[in-house]
Amino acid sequence: MPPRIQTLEQHILETQRAHPAASGEFSWLLSAITLATRIISAHVRRAGLVDILGETGKTNVQGEIVQKLDLIANETIATCLGYRDNVGIMVSEEDDEPRILKEPDERAKYIVLFDPLDGSSNIDVNVSIGTIFSILQRRDGAGANKVMDHILQPGNRQIAAGYVIYSSSTVMAYTTGQGVHMFTLDPAIGAFRLIREHIKMPAQGKTYSVNEAYRPQFPKGVQEYLDWAKTEQAGGYGLRYIGSLVADFHRTLLTGGVFLYPPTQKAPKGKLRLLYEANPLALIAEQAGGAATDGKQRILDKVPTSLHERTSLVIGSKAEVERVHSFWRA
Ligand code: AHG
Ligand code: MN
Ligand code: MN
Repeated sequence: MPPRIQTLEQHILETQRAHPAASGEFSWLLSAITLATRIISAHVRRAGLVDILGETGKTNVQGEIVQKLDLIANETIATCLGYRDNVGIMVSEEDDEPRILKEPDERAKYIVLFDPLDGSSNIDVNVSIGTIFSILQRRDGAGANKVMDHILQPGNRQIAAGYVIYSSSTVMAYTTGQGVHMFTLDPAIGAFRLIREHIKMPAQGKTYSVNEAYRPQFPKGVQEYLDWAKTEQAGGYGLRYIGSLVADFHRTLLTGGVFLYPPTQKAPKGKLRLLYEANPLALIAEQAGGAATDGKQRILDKVPTSLHERTSLVIGSKAEVERVHSFWRA
């Protein structure tokens, strides 16, 4: 019997069948995201052969230099989502303002937020990069500033979240709140195929992931944690830091440990963005049995106040996140 091929679309439909309330709407929306990431993956695989490396010469709302692939990824996702009549609003790291595809109503009820290309500094050196997405539903009874009321919801109201990592293979992980499931893009058939279901993050892991160059700028307690991790008593921690959040998180999800981006003088609220980096990965981490905080509170409980709001992030195995807290809060 040949091995069963289960594509992402089949998986979603089967999962949704278990939820009669689901109307197939979500799978219709997610198929736009999977199409976009397959197109982005094709571009990434040809980087250097076609003119997509390097900078655009523009700076985005984050104050960061925009890479060509950032824009290609952003427009690809916007185009694919534009064909879905159930998406009302789109928020992107690369766009100053939200894109209102359709006035949110009973039909156009989804809000899709994303980091189209995460790890931009790694594009030109062929290191793993990714796409991160978060899905909210419009908020009933949204107030005066309807658009921002629909968008600025805490992460615990996400109906789905996921990421794609463009690496030696292209892998997608997503959750709709019923566990974390992982798929590899099979280039032979152009479809994401199920490789793992109900992934559980190891309860602990001797790997910490941080940019230690900023150590002098970290809160004292974090510096003390980093000192402790190097002691005999800690039992042999290793440091891994790729500089693409998606890649550092993917490793942490599969092998355990902790990723941290604490506040620095340069980024006093942390560098990572709450709505489309921390929230989606925090939902995945918790669905896999891990934890995600800003050093003080649960990421998913933070009520956003602005579109591109930044946050500190401590995410990974529950025991490792708690250990960072024990030093940071001391
Ligand atoms: P992006 O490329 O979407 O701007 O994200 C980059 C982020 C994240 O991927 C990574 O963890 C972090 O920047 C690395 O920051 P440092 O270079 O300051 O370590
Ligand atoms: Mn990013
Ligand atoms: Mn980005």
